[in-house]
Amino acid sequence: NLPEKGKVTWQSPSNIALVKYWGKKENQIPANPSVSFTLSNCHSTTSFQYQRTESATLEFDFYFEGVKKDDFKPKIQKFFERIRDYSPYLQSYKLEIHSENSFPHSSGIASSASGMSALALCVMSLEKAIFPEMSLEYFNRKASFLARLGSGSASRSIEGPLVEWGKHADFEESSDLFGINYPHDLHEVFKTYKDTILLVDKGQKTVSSTLGHDLMHGNPFAEARFKQANSNLAKLIPILQSGDLPAFIEIVESEALSLHAVMLSSIPYFILMKPNTLEIIQRIWEFRRETGVPVCFTLDAGANVHVLYPQHSENEVLELIKNELVAYCENGHYICDEIGSGARRI
Ligand code: PMV
Repeated sequence: NLPEKGKVTWQSPSNIALVKYWGKKENQIPANPSVSFTLSNCHSTTSFQYQRTESATLEFDFYFEGVKKDDFKPKIQKFFERIRDYSPYLQSYKLEIHSENSFPHSSGIASSASGMSALALCVMSLEKAIFPEMSLEYFNRKASFLARLGSGSASRSIEGPLVEWGKHADFEESSDLFGINYPHDLHEVFKTYKDTILLVDKGQKTVSSTLGHDLMHGNPFAEARFKQANSNLAKLIPILQSGDLPAFIEIVESEALSLHAVMLSSIPYFILMKPNTLEIIQRIWEFRRETGVPVCFTLDAGANVHVLYPQHSENEVLELIKNELVAYCENGHYICDEIGSGARRI
């Protein structure tokens, strides 16, 4: 019962990992479990028009911010090839895909999590049109499963406010194949947490995350790192429940530095932080010592700094950013975001 044609649009957010995923096995299986805050303002909006064809191979056109982009096609083609066995009906369609991001394209913010999750959700909406009886849980889990095959961290962008991905004994329904909504209690303070992203370097990363993950295979500290991530995930459970911010800060900052430490110890080694990344970290530490405001940082695979803080500290932290930290940002640019509830169909 394949529908002749249709159109669906999804808005899907970016996310920021508290416990980092770095290192993977075949088929985008993570070497360790991870957990992330779903973001709200940084998102991709993707619309997906489908039309039945007689040809038995999937055809598609891709437009980014209104412009046809053939250079983006290989990445999407690869995604469609990876999901082919799980979504075989796609082969009977011709697609027109339009996507745009709420954040500037060259901001150094990876759009793979939001972009790939939005695309996976569009595919799932077509599947739902074919199998209308599927449950919401199945829809979300398979969307996360498909998104994972596009980009590992994209599996954590379907739901919110916190998503866990990867098998872990303390997370009963956890799986390496898809993300699940964080199943333990969450203290009120985390439900409105803020993330201001300081854009230290808007350029393309010098080392892709695909290569970075790969280099974990020969890294002498890899096993210790995977163990540490598992242990940090377990330690976070009571902390996220009680709202113990000093303990939260210690784990989150340690995770960011451990991520970059395994980059420093890979062969070939590489550094994605910039001098201004370190200036910002130093200033956040000083500020926290001087004022007691529970602000901390985390990093992705890049030079930008995510400044994390509770809503009740917003005024003090924004003042610090506007008066001081903005000087370390490229063209003074930063993005104010906060914890969000996941993707939505529009
Ligand atoms: O999803 P990928 O393959 O781009 O990997 C992203 C990994 C980090 O952002 C560095 C960490 C994480 O868990 O999101």
